[in-house]
Amino acid sequence: MKIIIINGPNLNLLGKREPEIYGAATFEDYFKSLQTKFSLVELSYFQSNIEGEIIDKLHEVGFKYDGIILNAAAYTHTSVGIGDAVKGIETAVIEVHISNVHAREDFRHTSFIAPNAKGVITGFGLKSYDLAIQSFL
Ligand code: DQA
Repeated sequence: MKIIIINGPNLNLLGKREPEIYGAATFEDYFKSLQTKFSLVELSYFQSNIEGEIIDKLHEVGFKYDGIILNAAAYTHTSVGIGDAVKGIETAVIEVHISNVHAREDFRHTSFIAPNAKGVITGFGLKSYDLAIQSFL
């Protein structure tokens, strides 16, 4: 089973960025622990701060992978383009967030991805990604 995690803007700063919200671990370290835990899954990881690169990656994997776990970060709340890409591909997308976006500012309550996602997992810290993999399995 091939699953990719796609992370959007500022998530390259995990571990340093607002640790009270996003925790102290880097995503690279957490990703290694996911690869160990789900050793039978072919897991890959892509991060970009650039909207068009995220769209290009969705197009590239969206007809050949078995699952996409997408944390589009701030673009979740703004990007019609990423929402349209999720709608246009075949592979199921699970939207994830580290923080509980519904417990935060109003602008984070809107998602352009959720209407076309298989589901949304929000607020479980980095464990949100683990739960998304389990849901694909
Ligand atoms: C986030 C929540 C978004 O609102 C925010 O812009 C992020 C991270 C999360 O994982 O909690 O950058 O997607």
